[in-house]
Amino acid sequence: MATGIIGTGSFLPPTIIDNNELAKLVKTDDDWIREHTGIVERHIATDETTSYMATEAARAAIENSGVDVREIDLILLATLSPERATPSMSCIVQDKIGALNATCFDLNAACSGFVYALQTADAYITAGMAKTVLVIGSETLSKLVDWKDRSTCILFADGAGAVVVTQQERGILSSVTHSDGSKGMSLKCKDRSTRNFLNRKQEDIHYIQMIGPDIFKFAVRKVPACIELLLQRANVNKEDVAYYVLHQANARIVVSVSKKLGVPLEKFPMNIDHCGNTSSASIPILLDEMNRNAMLKQGDKIVLCGFGGGLTWGAQLIEW
Ligand code: UT7
Repeated sequence: MATGIIGTGSFLPPTIIDNNELAKLVKTDDDWIREHTGIVERHIATDETTSYMATEAARAAIENSGVDVREIDLILLATLSPERATPSMSCIVQDKIGALNATCFDLNAACSGFVYALQTADAYITAGMAKTVLVIGSETLSKLVDWKDRSTCILFADGAGAVVVTQQERGILSSVTHSDGSKGMSLKCKDRSTRNFLNRKQEDIHYIQMIGPDIFKFAVRKVPACIELLLQRANVNKEDVAYYVLHQANARIVVSVSKKLGVPLEKFPMNIDHCGNTSSASIPILLDEMNRNAMLKQGDKIVLCGFGGGLTWGAQLIEW
């Protein structure tokens, strides 16, 4: 038996901002953004919050799975952009959906958050500590971005994705996660004041700051190695994987990973053109799109791989 995904769901805020609209805010243009990132447009939250979008994605995943909400005994929510420190986003979702029997907590592994949360769900299920787990990635990065900084505001976007997992005949075959805090400051964001009245000095910068090229190089080096290790642990060949579902950070990263692995780009589905980079939400949003478009067949082997702030990276191999 294995931890298998039995339902998927997602939510994207209805407001869409295309590259031409961003060119009115910062010195950039549609060609540059398309060529350097693959993004054409993205969904941006107005009044929608991280917990609201998570709730909508969760409702869709639960409906898709067919489970009774009272069966859910664990809710894990990955985010780096919660709208409050407490109550946690997962506790808010629990209340909204009526999952009375769930234990709830949030976790932050930035853009790797979803694969970390799925690994945690697998560990709980394998240990017999949970039976039915709701795993969510939800982000309102637009509220952490400096809309005067063209190196970040063109990239990040908002949305949420969710899955329901339980013990099944097919599911997670192997799982790998890594962290390297020594390089963490190349992608950073202070989320609220960390000073008290004794050491208040100057206004901190609370926006996302990123040394983009450093993160790019980190991703194209670590992701192929991580996937190779994942497949080796499960004794599965690269050719036998139906889809490589990578975090949608930048289309050029996906292209580079496909070349380095020697796997055709057709096996790397992408939705970054219309979703942008939604950090922990990008993998479950893409997975939900694939599921609803009937791309996933029983027995397909699928790799999920996240990477980003922390620095963190990780992957799962799943038999669908
Ligand atoms: O989500 C997980 C973590 N994040 C990532 O994985 C993101 C990884 N990094 C990236 O995706 C890319 O580094 C970016 C998309 C952020 C930037 O693309 P790049 O090709 O690495 O550009 P760059 O930072 O090397 O800048 C190249 C040039 C610079 O001009 P000069 O110095 O060559 O004259 C920048 O000032 O492009 C300029 N530039 C822009 N020009 C027009 C930077 N941003 C823009 C912009 N529009 N939006």
